[in-house]
Amino acid sequence: MNPIKHVAIIMDGNGRWGRSKGKSRNFGHKEGLKTVEKIIKETLKNKIKYLTLYAFSTENWKRPKNEINYLFSLLNNFLSKKIKELNEEKIKFYVIGKKKFNKKLNRLLNYSEKLTSKNKRLQINLALNYGSKSEIIRAINFIKKKKLGINEKNVSKNLYTSNIPDPDILIRTGNRKRLSNFLLWQLAYSEIFFEKKLWPDFNEKDYNKILNLFKKIKRNFGKI
Ligand code: IPE
Ligand code: IPE
Ligand code: MG
Repeated sequence: MNPIKHVAIIMDGNGRWGRSKGKSRNFGHKEGLKTVEKIIKETLKNKIKYLTLYAFSTENWKRPKNEINYLFSLLNNFLSKKIKELNEEKIKFYVIGKKKFNKKLNRLLNYSEKLTSKNKRLQINLALNYGSKSEIIRAINFIKKKKLGINEKNVSKNLYTSNIPDPDILIRTGNRKRLSNFLLWQLAYSEIFFEKKLWPDFNEKDYNKILNLFKKIKRNFGKI
């Protein structure tokens, strides 16, 4: 049985879900937030230590302004309402990506990270304004500045995810089989599960099914 330390998720399909209900893409984003809450609870139940959620990519800035604004207002409301509860649940909140938003959101993100920084039960990494290619380039620039050797250990140590074990599992919902610039370095040996369901339809049962499938996989890491 493989232990599960880290699950990463590309939460895709909100927009299509909203449209499929005859409503807006934003309606799908709102519904998708409910799935986030379900999956956090289930991750705690499964005693998994790290959960990384892809919420906004560096490429997502190419979307219409109204959708971008809506996504960030959802995040703002969610965090302001829930960060206390997350803290009480002993969850550590951490942002991966470039924290460069409006003042209010920057402050809320920093506050949330600080408030929960000592928690050890589960670490939630929220990938926000995150792009894997720019993360790797940033790491290499740090290494150069520190005049260190460019090697695997130093690259890993200078990514946003330094000190976090690589994901055991990557799940992408929404019936698309691509990585969309997510954790390209860290996923080198992860087991990848592409899920047909759109994110708002994904539930605890689907999640546990994947976790159980993972446990039985023979992971080789190049060996036999
Ligand atoms: C959610 O799904 C991902 C985010 C960028 C928040 P999408 O908004 O990409 O939904 P689809 O893929 O267009 O259906
Ligand atoms: C990936 O989904 C980003 C997030 C889930 C935040 P996208 O919907 O942006 O990916 P593409 O553009 O279809 O590859
Ligand atoms: Mg999408």
